[in-house]
Amino acid sequence: MTTYSKIIGTGSYLPPERVTNEELVARLALKGVETSDEWIFSRSGISARHYADPAVCSSDLAVQAAQNALEMAGLTGNDIDLIIVATSTPDHFGGFPSTACVVQRKLGITNGCAAVDVQAVCSGFIYAVSVADSFIRSGAHKKALVIGAEVFSRILDFKDRGTCVLFGDGAGAIILSASAEPGILATKLHADGRYGDILCVEGGMSGGILAGSGFLTMDGPAVFKLAVSLLEKVAVEALESAGMTSSDLDWLIPHQANIRIMQSTAKKLQMPAEKMVVTVDQHGNTSAASIPLALDTAVRDGRVKPNQHILMEGVGGGFTWGAVVARM
Ligand code: UT7
Repeated sequence: MTTYSKIIGTGSYLPPERVTNEELVARLALKGVETSDEWIFSRSGISARHYADPAVCSSDLAVQAAQNALEMAGLTGNDIDLIIVATSTPDHFGGFPSTACVVQRKLGITNGCAAVDVQAVCSGFIYAVSVADSFIRSGAHKKALVIGAEVFSRILDFKDRGTCVLFGDGAGAIILSASAEPGILATKLHADGRYGDILCVEGGMSGGILAGSGFLTMDGPAVFKLAVSLLEKVAVEALESAGMTSSDLDWLIPHQANIRIMQSTAKKLQMPAEKMVVTVDQHGNTSAASIPLALDTAVRDGRVKPNQHILMEGVGGGFTWGAVVARM
């Protein structure tokens, strides 16, 4: 009998501090940085973002999202046998212990389950789902907790108006379970390291000292152009692999970075705007967290229903991109 992986629970969490465009404009003005609600909204579709308190880590946001997903799935932490956290803002510098191990501890999971971080920036959740799906289909694992969690506010240069207005903090999670019925129908992953410098965090540690700025830098127009062409291609690839076309889809759930990129992808796929889940207005670009945040929102408000078909896709630093087609 073929084993598939199926989404049996979703969860998400945004830290309480919600900063509207107007409020951010006022805060940036104090630093001599000029921007406007009109510019931010018209160029990106973002109205607000959430910021975590300084003492709050990606794992804290991840745990909240995971608890919501576990509750929906009717499971407890010790039912999980694999934890994958997609994050570019791990709790520990150098990435260890991994945020997944910290999440395991904070959830009180003592069954010794596997736990690992995945780093593919804004495509991280798509990569993590793909890895978990492969592990489950191979028979190695039965219940995976897959999380995207970020505190991107930590790596923003609030003097760079071209980036700091776009990103926020948050987490989203799903539970993937082994199933006799298909859930994840196809996954496609890609990367091209030649484009590494158009979206990156500059610097590294040497002798305990940060060499470089440590801040996110982005060539926005270059990322925009690449994203628009890659997202359509990978969506079509994943659909073909699932034996489907875009007309078979109930929902498009793209990485929530910029409404103009999202609309352009939907148009190229000939999907009506009403079939695209949009949450970028409420939380900005939360990198690896944005797709599960959008998915959970649409599951909980009743838009995404059992047996419907969804396409999730992301693009980000590396350069990385990928797509997942799933039956809910
Ligand atoms: O998650 C990973 C994927 N990341 C993305 O998908 C981001 C992709 N890129 C984008 O979303 C867009 O390129 C941005 C939203 C970042 C920028 O939009 P754009 O339409 O490409 O604007 P631009 O960078 O070409 O800048 C246009 C103008 C410039 O002024 P000049 O040179 O035309 O006088 C910028 O200096 O807008 C200026 N500008 C701003 N003005 C007010 C840049 N940032 C701001 C700002 N407020 N915050």
